[in-house]
Amino acid sequence: MTINLISNQTKTISVAENQNVLSIAQQQGINMSYACSTGYCGSCKCKMVSGKAAELPISASGISHDEIEQGYTLACQCKPLGDLTLLEVD
Ligand code: FES
Repeated sequence: MTINLISNQTKTISVAENQNVLSIAQQQGINMSYACSTGYCGSCKCKMVSGKAAELPISASGISHDEIEQGYTLACQCKPLGDLTLLEVD
């Protein structure tokens, strides 16, 4: 699967099934905002521009239900289900 990360420029990373976006970005040398890596702080929040991802775990308290409904996700918990485009939110 291919993930496009849009911030001040677009970066493309490859993600295998059941991997989260943040850990793969870090492994591939791409800096993303984060603090806890466990879904609590919300600092890795991104907007899903296209594609689908697995439902976030209930423990992901760094994002509200309304934000999820609006297409936001947490990169540290986001497991793509196919090609995905994410807009990093500062
Ligand atoms: S890094 Fe804290 S919620 Fe993702």
